[in-house]
Amino acid sequence: MLFDTHAHLDEDAFSQDTDEVLARAVASGVTTMLAVATTVESSRATIALAARFPNVFASVGIHPNYAVQAKPGDWEAIEELASSPKVIAIGETGLDRYWDHTPFDVQLDYFRRQIELAGRRDVPFIVHCRESEPDVVAVLREMAGAGQLKGIMHSFCGGRATLDAALELGLHISFAGMLTFKKNVELRELTKTIPLNRLLIETDSPYLAPQPNRGKRNEPAFVRHTAECLAEVLGQTLDEIGTITTANARRLFGLSDVLG
Ligand code: NI
Repeated sequence: MLFDTHAHLDEDAFSQDTDEVLARAVASGVTTMLAVATTVESSRATIALAARFPNVFASVGIHPNYAVQAKPGDWEAIEELASSPKVIAIGETGLDRYWDHTPFDVQLDYFRRQIELAGRRDVPFIVHCRESEPDVVAVLREMAGAGQLKGIMHSFCGGRATLDAALELGLHISFAGMLTFKKNVELRELTKTIPLNRLLIETDSPYLAPQPNRGKRNEPAFVRHTAECLAEVLGQTLDEIGTITTANARRLFGLSDVLG
């Protein structure tokens, strides 16, 4: 039983074969997926997917690389869409100094707004962090104040300091296909220091497929390979890691009662 906590199912890469992709996911043991949005249009699309497929849930939000394109009214639309049925997270949000598409102060503004909105709705926010670990940690600390946050470090590939700060602030840590890449020895070592109840798995489909599918279009069925890798590193079985990460996701997203 696996839960893919981050898949861009609304992207063009899936427009021709969504049904087949979701059928392969189920056949591979992926019982639940979170379709993650990047813009207002994408937020409407993830909500539509969640309405169409019982095992798909939705996030709404504006990705840091798309914040520059946000039009007047877009933020208000996100706030409204956040109360749609099956919306269980806000994002993806965060900071990106690698692509640098959006002026950094605009990225910071949208990051703070989405953390605040997630807090107001009592759902987790999803953090994208690329070449901006100290900045992300600073915003998380600022927004947490003396308290804790409900959020996810998505496709985590950061270092020790960022991991420790995120855990201390209450965040969950989600691993994607990069965990399986041969060179990422240190990342695999870091997983051993994370409390089991904070671990999540994801694909970040259609990007960065795990081994042995690296280079292909990624899809939710492949989250199994990341789960297998995590199981091996942690000395657990695939079943155990599936049970642990799925229970974590259900608890975090408030789905324990919904899904039974
Ligand atoms: Ni993503």
